[in-house]
Amino acid sequence: MMNILIVGGNGGIGFAMIKECLTQYSDAQIHATYRRTKPQFQHERVRWYQVNVSHDDEVKVFSELFDDINWIINCVGILHTRDKGPEKNLTALDSVFFQQVMTTNTLPTLLLAKYFTPKLKKTDTPKFAVISAKVGSISDNQLGGWYSYRASKAALNMFIKTMSIEWQRILKNGVVLALHPGTTDTPLSEPFQANVPQGKLFTPERVACDLIGLIASSTPQQSGSFLAYSGDRLPW
Ligand SMILES: NC(=O)c1ccc[n+]([C@@H]2O[C@H](COP(=O)([O-])OP(=O)(O)OC[C@H]3O[C@@H](n4cnc5c(N)ncnc54)[C@H](OP(=O)(O)O)[C@@H]3O)[C@@H](O)[C@H]2O)c1
Repeated sequence: MMNILIVGGNGGIGFAMIKECLTQYSDAQIHATYRRTKPQFQHERVRWYQVNVSHDDEVKVFSELFDDINWIINCVGILHTRDKGPEKNLTALDSVFFQQVMTTNTLPTLLLAKYFTPKLKKTDTPKFAVISAKVGSISDNQLGGWYSYRASKAALNMFIKTMSIEWQRILKNGVVLALHPGTTDTPLSEPFQANVPQGKLFTPERVACDLIGLIASSTPQQSGSFLAYSGDRLPW
């Protein structure tokens, strides 16, 4: 039996990932985390866990519940909070917001990698995927702005690349991926959807289908890459 862990399973993309995995893998047990409110969705192959994945101790205790995990997909992230949006200019920078963004978009992946690598190592073809964002690409940045979000995703990407180098030694069959979903219709992108070109705002279901396909078909040779939903490699 395959064990798939979806972190942030109550989010727009995370929840669609759960449903896509249930459909595509009829023998998979899905483990899904949420932070605050337990989702209504129930299924005999879905188990919910309340975990704040920004807290080291919580991730450690959570990892101890498992013996082996085949895939981890981290779908946690923020772009804006109730009172703060992504920065348009330097004047808008705020240390509390910056730390909140780093703590949510970057830190959880470090903690999951630390505590779950031994669990993933027990399976034949482990996959560790995280939802990043194209705006975290340093070389592709032409518009500026969104300082904290861009910095958090660039740091996340560097972590993924670095982790993949360690996995080449210790989990030779493993794959580590940073994935760009494209602009997806979720609460995260909702305030910024006005200028999205026609046909470029994707449903979470479509994105989940694309990304699960990429994870499933990925090979160890692709480990440590930054892939768009289309399968194209993105520049760091
Ligand atoms: N939507 C897009 O257009 C788009 C584009 C590029 C990249 N992405 C990336 O895709 C990922 C998923 O985003 P989404 O669009 O699905 O957004 P979403 O619907 O807002 O979901 C975000 C998820 O993150 C969780 N979360 C937020 N802050 C957290 C914290 N401090 N600790 C633990 N969990 C926390 C939320 O859980 P709670 O509700 O419990 O807080 C929720 O499960 C993010 O990494 C985002 O950066 C999205």
